[in-house]
Amino acid sequence: MARIVAGVATSHIPAVGAAWDNRKTAEPYWRPVFEGFERSKEWIAKLKPDVCIVAYNDHMSAFSLEIVPTFAVGCAAEFPIADEGWGPRKVPPVKGHPELASHIVQSVILDEFDLTIVNKMEVDHGLTVPLNLVFGSPKQWPCPVIPLAVNVVQYPPPTGKRCFDLGRAIRKAVASYPDDLRVVVFGTGGMSHQISGPRAGLINEKFDKSFLDRLTKDPKGLAAMPHIEYMREAGAEGVELVMWHVMRGALDDRVKEVYRFYTVPASNTAVGHIILENDAKPARKAAPKKAKAKKPTRKAA
Ligand SMILES: [Fe+2]
Repeated sequence: MARIVAGVATSHIPAVGAAWDNRKTAEPYWRPVFEGFERSKEWIAKLKPDVCIVAYNDHMSAFSLEIVPTFAVGCAAEFPIADEGWGPRKVPPVKGHPELASHIVQSVILDEFDLTIVNKMEVDHGLTVPLNLVFGSPKQWPCPVIPLAVNVVQYPPPTGKRCFDLGRAIRKAVASYPDDLRVVVFGTGGMSHQISGPRAGLINEKFDKSFLDRLTKDPKGLAAMPHIEYMREAGAEGVELVMWHVMRGALDDRVKEVYRFYTVPASNTAVGHIILENDAKPARKAAPKKAKAKKPTRKAA
Protein backbone atom coordinates (compact mmCIF):
# COMPACT_ATOMS: atom_id res chain seq x y z
CA MET A 1 0.00 0.00 0.00
CA ALA A 2 1.18 3.53 -0.72
CA ARG A 3 1.41 5.99 2.16
CA ILE A 4 2.24 9.61 2.76
CA VAL A 5 5.24 9.78 5.05
CA ALA A 6 6.09 13.46 5.22
CA GLY A 7 5.25 16.98 4.11
CA VAL A 8 7.48 19.82 2.97
CA ALA A 9 6.44 23.46 2.73
CA THR A 10 8.63 26.06 1.13
CA SER A 11 8.57 29.38 -0.66
CA HIS A 12 9.06 29.12 -4.43
CA ILE A 13 10.56 32.53 -5.17
CA PRO A 14 11.57 32.95 -8.85
CA ALA A 15 14.69 34.96 -7.93
CA VAL A 16 15.92 31.92 -5.99
CA GLY A 17 15.79 29.95 -9.25
CA ALA A 18 17.64 32.74 -11.05
CA ALA A 19 20.33 32.80 -8.32
CA TRP A 20 20.67 29.06 -8.73
CA ASP A 21 20.86 29.20 -12.51
CA ASN A 22 23.40 32.06 -12.52
CA ARG A 23 25.63 30.43 -9.86
CA LYS A 24 25.05 33.13 -7.27
CA THR A 25 24.19 30.82 -4.40
CA ALA A 26 27.44 31.57 -2.55
CA GLU A 27 27.09 35.34 -2.79
CA PRO A 28 26.57 37.04 0.61
CA TYR A 29 23.00 38.05 -0.24
CA TRP A 30 21.94 34.53 -1.24
CA ARG A 31 24.12 32.34 0.96
CA PRO A 32 21.79 32.41 4.03
CA VAL A 33 18.88 31.21 1.89
CA PHE A 34 20.69 28.27 0.35
CA GLU A 35 22.48 27.28 3.56
CA GLY A 36 19.07 27.05 5.19
CA PHE A 37 18.17 24.15 2.90
CA GLU A 38 21.32 22.06 3.45
CA ARG A 39 19.68 20.04 6.23
CA SER A 40 16.60 19.53 4.07
CA LYS A 41 18.73 18.06 1.30
CA GLU A 42 20.32 15.63 3.76
CA TRP A 43 16.91 14.72 5.16
CA ILE A 44 15.32 13.91 1.81
CA ALA A 45 18.43 12.06 0.58
CA LYS A 46 17.99 9.71 3.55
CA LEU A 47 14.21 9.46 3.17
CA LYS A 48 14.37 8.61 -0.56
CA PRO A 49 10.68 9.13 -1.39
CA ASP A 50 9.25 7.13 -4.28
CA VAL A 51 6.96 9.95 -5.46
CA CYS A 52 6.43 13.62 -4.61
CA ILE A 53 3.12 15.43 -5.01
CA VAL A 54 3.78 19.17 -5.35
CA ALA A 55 1.03 21.73 -4.72
CA TYR A 56 2.15 24.92 -6.43
CA ASN A 57 0.66 27.66 -8.53
CA ASP A 58 1.16 28.15 -12.22
CA HIS A 59 2.25 31.72 -12.99
CA MET A 60 0.50 32.01 -16.35
CA SER A 61 2.95 29.55 -17.89
CA ALA A 62 0.81 26.49 -18.59
CA PHE A 63 -2.50 28.31 -18.27
CA SER A 64 -3.58 31.83 -19.08
CA LEU A 65 -6.48 34.02 -18.02
CA GLU A 66 -8.51 32.24 -20.72
CA ILE A 67 -8.77 29.15 -18.52
CA VAL A 68 -8.03 29.18 -14.79
CA PRO A 69 -8.59 25.81 -13.13
CA THR A 70 -8.90 25.92 -9.35
CA PHE A 71 -7.17 22.56 -8.89
CA ALA A 72 -5.39 20.84 -11.80
CA VAL A 73 -3.59 17.50 -11.47
CA GLY A 74 -0.84 16.60 -13.94
CA CYS A 75 -1.39 13.04 -15.17
CA ALA A 76 1.25 13.06 -17.94
CA ALA A 77 4.41 10.94 -18.05
CA GLU A 78 6.57 14.03 -18.43
CA PHE A 79 6.23 17.78 -17.86
CA PRO A 80 8.55 20.04 -19.89
CA ILE A 81 10.05 23.15 -18.28
CA ALA A 82 8.18 26.35 -19.17
CA ASP A 83 9.79 29.38 -20.78
CA GLU A 84 8.97 32.21 -18.37
CA GLY A 85 10.53 34.89 -20.54
CA TRP A 86 14.24 34.06 -20.38
CA GLY A 87 14.09 30.61 -21.95
CA PRO A 88 13.27 27.44 -20.01
CA ARG A 89 15.36 26.94 -16.85
CA LYS A 90 18.16 24.46 -17.43
CA VAL A 91 16.78 21.87 -15.03
CA PRO A 92 15.73 18.32 -15.91
CA PRO A 93 12.22 17.75 -17.25
CA VAL A 94 9.89 16.55 -14.56
CA LYS A 95 8.86 12.90 -14.86
CA GLY A 96 5.33 12.23 -13.71
CA HIS A 97 3.63 9.17 -12.26
CA PRO A 98 0.57 8.73 -14.51
CA GLU A 99 -0.68 5.64 -12.68
CA LEU A 100 -0.75 7.20 -9.21
CA ALA A 101 -1.94 10.57 -10.57
CA SER A 102 -4.86 8.87 -12.37
CA HIS A 103 -5.68 6.88 -9.26
CA ILE A 104 -5.74 10.09 -7.19
CA VAL A 105 -7.95 11.80 -9.77
CA GLN A 106 -10.40 8.88 -9.76
CA SER A 107 -10.50 8.53 -5.99
CA VAL A 108 -10.77 12.26 -5.27
CA ILE A 109 -13.41 12.99 -7.94
CA LEU A 110 -15.52 9.99 -6.93
CA ASP A 111 -15.14 11.35 -3.40
CA GLU A 112 -17.08 14.35 -4.79
CA PHE A 113 -14.10 16.68 -4.98
CA ASP A 114 -13.83 17.89 -8.57
CA LEU A 115 -10.41 18.31 -10.14
CA THR A 116 -9.18 19.31 -13.59
CA ILE A 117 -7.30 16.49 -15.32
CA VAL A 118 -4.28 17.76 -17.24
CA ASN A 119 -2.58 15.39 -19.67
CA LYS A 120 -0.17 17.94 -21.15
CA MET A 121 1.40 20.75 -19.16
CA GLU A 122 4.61 22.72 -18.78
CA VAL A 123 5.78 23.51 -15.26
CA ASP A 124 7.35 26.76 -14.08
CA HIS A 125 9.42 28.04 -11.15
CA GLY A 126 6.55 27.41 -8.74
CA LEU A 127 7.39 23.71 -9.05
CA THR A 128 11.05 23.64 -10.11
CA VAL A 129 12.45 26.00 -7.43
CA PRO A 130 11.20 23.84 -4.51
CA LEU A 131 12.68 20.77 -6.24
CA ASN A 132 16.06 22.55 -6.49
CA LEU A 133 15.92 23.63 -2.86
CA VAL A 134 15.50 20.11 -1.52
CA PHE A 135 17.11 17.96 -4.23
CA GLY A 136 19.86 20.32 -5.41
CA SER A 137 20.59 20.17 -9.13
CA PRO A 138 20.85 16.52 -10.15
CA LYS A 139 20.99 15.41 -13.79
CA GLN A 140 17.59 13.82 -13.30
CA TRP A 141 15.14 14.44 -10.47
CA PRO A 142 15.45 11.47 -8.09
CA CYS A 143 11.77 10.50 -8.17
CA PRO A 144 8.60 11.06 -10.17
CA VAL A 145 6.60 14.19 -9.36
CA ILE A 146 2.85 14.76 -9.61
CA PRO A 147 2.14 18.47 -10.14
CA LEU A 148 -0.96 19.86 -8.46
CA ALA A 149 -1.58 23.38 -9.75
CA VAL A 150 -3.73 25.55 -7.47
CA ASN A 151 -5.17 28.86 -8.61
CA VAL A 152 -3.95 31.71 -6.44
CA VAL A 153 -3.55 34.10 -9.37
CA GLN A 154 -7.10 35.14 -10.22
CA TYR A 155 -9.74 35.87 -7.61
CA PRO A 156 -11.22 33.83 -6.04
CA PRO A 157 -8.61 31.30 -4.99
CA PRO A 158 -9.79 28.29 -3.00
CA THR A 159 -10.11 28.74 0.75
CA GLY A 160 -7.52 27.33 3.12
CA LYS A 161 -10.12 24.86 4.37
CA ARG A 162 -10.84 23.64 0.83
CA CYS A 163 -7.12 23.11 0.30
CA PHE A 164 -6.85 21.26 3.61
CA ASP A 165 -9.82 19.05 2.67
CA LEU A 166 -8.22 18.34 -0.71
CA GLY A 167 -5.12 17.20 1.15
CA ARG A 168 -7.33 14.87 3.21
CA ALA A 169 -8.91 13.45 0.03
CA ILE A 170 -5.46 12.93 -1.53
CA ARG A 171 -4.32 11.15 1.60
CA LYS A 172 -7.27 8.75 1.34
CA ALA A 173 -6.53 8.20 -2.36
CA VAL A 174 -2.85 7.44 -1.77
CA ALA A 175 -3.71 5.03 1.03
CA SER A 176 -5.84 2.97 -1.38
CA TYR A 177 -3.13 2.69 -4.07
CA PRO A 178 -1.93 -0.92 -4.16
CA ASP A 179 1.81 -0.42 -4.78
CA ASP A 180 4.13 0.08 -1.85
CA LEU A 181 5.13 3.71 -2.40
CA ARG A 182 6.39 6.27 0.11
CA VAL A 183 5.01 9.65 -0.85
CA VAL A 184 6.04 13.17 0.21
CA VAL A 185 3.61 16.06 -0.32
CA PHE A 186 4.85 19.60 -0.93
CA GLY A 187 3.00 22.85 -0.29
CA THR A 188 4.74 25.81 -1.89
CA GLY A 189 4.48 29.59 -2.12
CA GLY A 190 4.48 32.46 0.36
CA MET A 191 5.36 33.52 2.92
CA SER A 192 4.45 37.17 3.49
CA HIS A 193 5.04 39.26 0.40
CA GLN A 194 3.41 41.85 -1.78
CA ILE A 195 4.75 42.53 -5.26
CA SER A 196 3.05 45.79 -6.20
CA GLY A 197 1.07 48.74 -4.85
CA PRO A 198 1.72 50.98 -1.84
CA ARG A 199 2.52 47.99 0.39
CA ALA A 200 5.05 46.40 -2.04
CA GLY A 201 7.85 44.77 -0.07
CA LEU A 202 5.63 44.05 2.95
CA ILE A 203 7.10 41.42 5.29
CA ASN A 204 5.32 40.32 8.47
CA GLU A 205 7.69 38.13 10.43
CA LYS A 206 5.35 37.79 13.40
CA PHE A 207 2.55 36.48 11.19
CA ASP A 208 4.87 34.13 9.31
CA LYS A 209 6.30 32.57 12.46
CA SER A 210 2.86 32.16 13.98
CA PHE A 211 1.73 30.48 10.73
CA LEU A 212 4.63 28.02 11.00
CA ASP A 213 3.76 27.27 14.65
CA ARG A 214 0.09 26.71 13.96
CA LEU A 215 0.74 24.55 10.90
CA THR A 216 2.07 21.91 13.25
CA LYS A 217 -0.11 22.43 16.31
CA ASP A 218 -3.39 23.93 15.10
CA PRO A 219 -3.76 22.97 11.43
CA LYS A 220 -7.57 23.00 11.31
CA GLY A 221 -7.82 26.36 13.07
CA LEU A 222 -5.17 27.78 10.74
CA ALA A 223 -6.94 26.43 7.65
CA ALA A 224 -10.09 28.30 8.70
CA MET A 225 -8.35 31.68 8.29
CA PRO A 226 -10.24 33.78 5.70
CA HIS A 227 -8.56 35.28 2.62
CA ILE A 228 -8.86 38.82 3.97
CA GLU A 229 -6.57 37.89 6.85
CA TYR A 230 -3.84 36.75 4.44
CA MET A 231 -4.20 39.98 2.49
CA ARG A 232 -4.12 42.13 5.61
CA GLU A 233 -1.31 40.35 7.43
CA ALA A 234 0.80 38.71 4.71
CA GLY A 235 0.26 40.98 1.70
CA ALA A 236 -1.61 40.39 -1.56
CA GLU A 237 0.62 37.50 -2.65
CA GLY A 238 0.72 36.01 0.85
CA VAL A 239 -2.48 34.21 -0.12
CA GLU A 240 -0.20 31.65 -1.81
CA LEU A 241 0.06 30.17 1.69
CA VAL A 242 -3.30 28.43 1.19
CA MET A 243 -1.32 25.83 -0.78
CA TRP A 244 0.51 24.82 2.39
CA HIS A 245 -2.79 23.51 3.73
CA VAL A 246 -2.94 20.87 0.96
CA MET A 247 0.29 19.45 2.37
CA ARG A 248 -0.91 19.67 5.97
CA GLY A 249 -4.27 18.10 5.20
CA ALA A 250 -2.48 15.16 3.59
CA LEU A 251 -0.65 14.40 6.85
CA ASP A 252 -1.90 12.91 10.10
CA ASP A 253 -3.42 15.16 12.75
CA ARG A 254 -0.36 14.49 14.85
CA VAL A 255 2.96 15.30 13.20
CA LYS A 256 6.57 15.75 14.20
CA GLU A 257 8.31 18.95 13.17
CA VAL A 258 11.63 17.80 11.75
CA TYR A 259 13.08 21.11 10.62
CA ARG A 260 12.18 24.75 10.18
CA PHE A 261 13.92 27.62 8.47
CA TYR A 262 13.00 31.27 8.07
CA THR A 263 15.00 34.14 6.64
CA VAL A 264 14.42 37.64 5.31
CA PRO A 265 14.89 38.91 2.69
CA ALA A 266 15.12 37.01 -0.55
CA SER A 267 14.00 39.14 -3.45
CA ASN A 268 11.18 41.06 -1.75
CA THR A 269 9.78 38.17 0.23
CA ALA A 270 10.24 36.18 3.42
CA VAL A 271 11.55 32.65 2.85
CA GLY A 272 9.77 30.10 4.99
CA HIS A 273 10.32 26.36 5.07
CA ILE A 274 9.15 23.51 7.28
CA ILE A 275 9.42 19.72 7.21
CA LEU A 276 6.81 17.60 8.97
CA GLU A 277 6.69 13.84 9.36
CA ASN A 278 3.73 11.74 10.32
CA ASP A 279 4.21 10.81 13.94
CA ALA A 280 3.37 7.15 13.91
CA LYS A 281 3.66 6.72 17.67
CA PRO A 282 0.28 6.05 19.27
CA ALA A 283 -0.93 8.76 21.60
CA ARG A 284 0.09 8.04 25.17
CA LYS A 285 -2.84 6.65 27.09
CA ALA A 286 -3.45 7.83 30.60
CA ALA A 287 -2.40 5.20 33.08
CA PRO A 288 -5.40 3.43 34.59
CA LYS A 289 -6.25 4.82 37.98
CA LYS A 290 -5.37 2.55 40.84
CA ALA A 291 -8.35 1.38 42.77
CA LYS A 292 -8.37 2.90 46.20
CA ALA A 293 -7.69 0.37 48.86
CA LYS A 294 -10.75 -0.07 50.97
CA LYS A 295 -10.32 0.79 54.59
CA PRO A 296 -10.88 -2.28 56.68
CA THR A 297 -14.18 -1.95 58.35
CA ARG A 298 -14.36 -2.66 62.03
CA LYS A 299 -16.66 -5.39 62.83
CA ALA A 300 -19.26 -4.42 65.26
CA ALA A 301 -18.40 -5.73 68.60
FE1 LIG B 1 4.28 32.21 -6.77
